[in-house]
Amino acid sequence: MAILEILKLGHPTLTKKAVPVEKIDDQLRELAKNMIDTMHAAPGLGLSAPQVNVSKRLITVDLSLGEAEEEMIVLVNPGILKQEGKVVREEGCLSVPEIFEKVARPQRVVIKGTDLEGKERIIEGADLLARVFCHEIDHLDGRLFIEWLSPLKRNLIKKKFKHKAETGRK
Ligand code: NI
Repeated sequence: MAILEILKLGHPTLTKKAVPVEKIDDQLRELAKNMIDTMHAAPGLGLSAPQVNVSKRLITVDLSLGEAEEEMIVLVNPGILKQEGKVVREEGCLSVPEIFEKVARPQRVVIKGTDLEGKERIIEGADLLARVFCHEIDHLDGRLFIEWLSPLKRNLIKKKFKHKAETGRK
């Protein structure tokens, strides 16, 4: 078990487009395992590889926060096949701690990726699950949830984090 460092807003890896995973090997499986541990320890509902400084298309999602193993989802190269509806709700991110803002997301999505055995998985998610899927897939495209806010709000948050980094406050 390893807890990885979660990058914070301002780190360049967070705004980079992650590359597709070409080979599922032991190294990737180890990364996924560590991401799950890191996500549960945080705690968070989802995590993407770029948040632990690995610019690859891999996400972990667990709405049960580690309470129910069957809810654990690990997806390699996930993409949105279908989306519908719209729900506006408060959202946060482990890379932007203590900031919660309203963001519009689809009410329902169908996403496609593979599991750690390379088997194709198609998963339908509604409400919170749809939100987390969209949030994590955004990370893979170098997009943090604050990109969906007004430029004014976004710049205030960015400034706050820049100041935090400079003054070394946590
Ligand atoms: Ni996030």
